[in-house]
Amino acid sequence: MFLEIDNLYFSYPGKHRPWILEGYRFGMEAGEKVGISGPSGQGKSTLLRLIAGLERPQKGQIVIDGEIVTSAEHDVTPEARQVGMVFQDYGLFPHMTVAQNIAYGLWRLDKKARRERLETMLELTRMQAFSTRYPYEISGGQQQRVALARALAPNPKLLLLDEPLSNLDASLKVEIRREMRELMEQSQVTCLFVSHDLDDLHAVCERVVRVGAA
Ligand SMILES: Nc1ncnc2c1ncn2[C@@H]1O[C@H](COP(=O)(O)OP(=O)(O)OP(=O)(O)O)[C@@H](O)[C@H]1O
Ligand SMILES: [Mg+2]
Repeated sequence: MFLEIDNLYFSYPGKHRPWILEGYRFGMEAGEKVGISGPSGQGKSTLLRLIAGLERPQKGQIVIDGEIVTSAEHDVTPEARQVGMVFQDYGLFPHMTVAQNIAYGLWRLDKKARRERLETMLELTRMQAFSTRYPYEISGGQQQRVALARALAPNPKLLLLDEPLSNLDASLKVEIRREMRELMEQSQVTCLFVSHDLDDLHAVCERVVRVGAA
């Protein structure tokens, strides 16, 4: 099992807060693309944040690629988990160009390797012609592609997508969904994809699971 979540308990801090996750278990194999659906407020984003190491559970264990990243004794930093994440609002840095955004996570590489990786990602997302533009100078669909390129550039072990298509209007969405499916097939990355839209999930994922009590 590539990602293994065992007996996870999480509630946000505060008195009498309900469990968001209560004894949650989940596993996926390397290269798998799994969708997560479920109603609003059920804990989908929270689950991704726990996997990325942005939240710490009260109890339970998370293993990524054979390494315990979360347990009573372990808390691997988000950076060291090698997990890429795309948020609903894309989270692009507004003061950085497309190229600077994509290269952001490539600081470990030397200049030449960084340049090459950047070119590959620009090509993969067909953003070569836009590399010197700023996020506000490109469309929503293009921003979404840059966010994906930025997350994929450092070759993450695991890619977490939180409603990455929800900001797009309906006509653009169909096109971007198809592009994303192609991109995902090419990259072969292990991917967890959260969406309330089952059409989005079925376009990219082999199976869909639910999070939450309902
Ligand atoms: N930082 C926080 N502090 C306290 N409660 C929070 C916090 N973030 C989320 N919650 C609560 O935790 C529950 C789960 O939230 P979460 O964002 O994980 O849901 P979700 O399934 O992603 O919902 P949506 O589909 O609307 O994005 C919700 O009831 C929410 O109000
Ligand atoms: Mg959410």
